[in-house]
Order: sequence, then structure tokens, then C-alpha cells
Amino acid sequence: MGGRVAYFSTVPEIVFGCGCTDEIARFASLYGRRGVVVTGRVSGKASGVLEKIAFSLERQGLSVEVCDFISGEPTCADVDRIREVVRKSAAYFVVGAGGGSAMDAAKAAAGLAAQSDRTAVFLHEERASTGALPFLAVPTTSGSGAEVTANAVITDPDARVKKSIRGEAFLAAAVLVDPELTASCPPHTTAHSGCDALVQAVEAFVSRNATPLTDALASEAFRLLWCNLHRAYSHGSDIKARSACAWGSLLAGIALANARLGAVHGMAHSLGVRLGAPHGLICAVLMSEVVRKNMAVASRKYTRLEAIAGASLPEGLEALNRKLDIYRDFAQYTLPRHDFAAIAEESLSSSSLKANPEKFEKEDVIAVLDRLADRSESLEHH
Ligand SMILES: [Fe+2]
Repeated sequence: MGGRVAYFSTVPEIVFGCGCTDEIARFASLYGRRGVVVTGRVSGKASGVLEKIAFSLERQGLSVEVCDFISGEPTCADVDRIREVVRKSAAYFVVGAGGGSAMDAAKAAAGLAAQSDRTAVFLHEERASTGALPFLAVPTTSGSGAEVTANAVITDPDARVKKSIRGEAFLAAAVLVDPELTASCPPHTTAHSGCDALVQAVEAFVSRNATPLTDALASEAFRLLWCNLHRAYSHGSDIKARSACAWGSLLAGIALANARLGAVHGMAHSLGVRLGAPHGLICAVLMSEVVRKNMAVASRKYTRLEAIAGASLPEGLEALNRKLDIYRDFAQYTLPRHDFAAIAEESLSSSSLKANPEKFEKEDVIAVLDRLADRSESLEHH
């Protein structure tokens, strides 16, 4: 902490509460009468978010084009397609309504609205964008925190690359967190996205860039998710548990946007792009192994989380994973041992890995992946 200068920022407006999706028109009408809503192919309708947003906007006389083709983690082609709709409809704002995938696709389309180059150019050249359209975020899962971060994670399947496009222009103008929208989220998505949020809380808390401000957010996020995620998983319509997870996910997102993450997220992208597994699931299985590796340098901070959890950390995280059927879900993926060196190589350049409290060399990444593969194989034999 010492003499380092600390910075903190977040989105200018956050509205939280059951039914608050209806307020979208109040924010959208500040920017103009036409907008684009980006949502997931299934989640947009299942969560009711699309209907609620369209109703609110149309009642105020605003018109919207809907892009509801996002399924899975967004690709450069998805973002280009939304950008085309934004251009053709001369939209004044973009709404991202969904989980992390729809949110990141919407954010990138809004953030690149004034640009002419294709999305892949920004991804590969790591070029930041300016001149964005206002972006409004309505999350339908409690997980990624994408509604409060200034980056969009986009995949280029041809190049087998999954990276962030960044820029201050990507930060939402307003975020509406309506826990009612998460009530229909299926159990496995609740578990995977909730674990993403929990891991983000842990990683932000022990990050090299953590400050007392991010610690306060990350430790409370950890508490809320630790105490409520299993309930939200097993009793999806419990709105109290859903609200607690929505708060936890929001706080973890604000913490990570400022403190950054750690080794789990440093490895998760390149592993995820090979396995095709949900991001949160990968984070969940990696976390306990990374905690073991970090223990020597981060034990003081982990002790604070253990006091909240009432359990020792690597074992407690694994016990929670079992309650959420994480290992069962992960058993359908085979870890590519022959790719571990390449995954490690790619992970070393990630900014998340650089924020990890313990320095990770290539062999450390490989060792964590080996332990994960050993565990997966031993579980298969049971
Ligand atoms: Fe994450």
C-alpha cells in the first residue's frame, strides 16, 4: 500500500432493485429516440428482459432494433454484425441485456461505433477505442461483472484467440441490476456465473493492486456469494438469495475493474478457448489450486476470507464446488495435456497473471494445470 498512488473509478449511475429494469427508458431517453438492444438467443426471452426493456422504451416513444443472436462467448463476427445494425439504424444508444456474453458483445459494439476498422483489428492490435455510443447495462446473471468493467472479452475462433478490447469509452453510462431477471437463470448457469463472481472477489482481494477501497468491496462480495450462492443454485426462485448474489456480483465487478484479477483469470482465457467450457466453470476448478500456490505470500489476506467463510480456503472452495456440482460439470471436458506448455506461454502475457500476488513463471502455470488434470482423471475413475 505504502507510497503507491491509488485510483478508483466506476460507472456514474447504478440502480439496484426488483423491477428496476423498467427505468431503462429514463436513461435511454437522455441520448436519443433510437437504440439497439443486444441480448442472448435464449436468455433474452427466458429472463423476460427483452420484453421488459422493449415495453419500457416503446411506452416512452423510443424505437429499438433487437440483436438476439448471441449464444456463447461473443466472436468478432458477432460484434461486427451488431455494429452493422447500430450503423444502419442510426442508433443513439446500445443496451446490453443478458449475461457476460451479451454484455461484452453490446459493449464492444457501442465502444467501436465510431470506428470503421473491423473488430478483429482492435482485438489483435490491442488498440483502444474512443468515440463510443452510450452503453446501458442490464445483467440477467450474477457473475461476470461485465456491467461495470471497461473491457469486452471477445473471441476470434479462426485465430483461437480470446482477449479483451479496452477503453474508457466502454464503461456503461448506467447499470440497472434487477435481481428478478436472474430468478429464471438455470441451476448450472447460476453455479458457473456465481463461481466466476466468487473467484473474481477472491482474486481482486489478494491482487497486487488491491486498495482498502477494493478490499471493502471484494470481501463483502465474497461474503454475500459464499453465504448465498448454494441457496440460489438449489432454490432458484428464492429472491433474497438471488438479490444477495446480484449484490455480490456487482461489488466483485467494481473491485476487479480497479484492482484487476489474478492467476485464475490469467489462465482461464487460453484454457477456455481450447476446451470450449464456460468461463465460470474453468475459474471454479482452477481457484483452489491457485490459492495453494499463493498461500505463502497471501496467507494474511486469505485468513480474512477464511474468517468470513468459517472454513479453510482451498478445502472450503472445493467443498462449495462439490455442492454446486462443479466437478460433475467439468468431467465432460478433457484437459489437453499436450497443450499445457502453449497455454502457459499465452497466459504469461495476461495482465491478470501480473496482478497475482505470487509471481507465476511458465512452469508454475503448467504445474497448476497438471494438478487439475490429475484431479480430473482421478474423479473420472470414481
Ligand atoms: Fe471472470
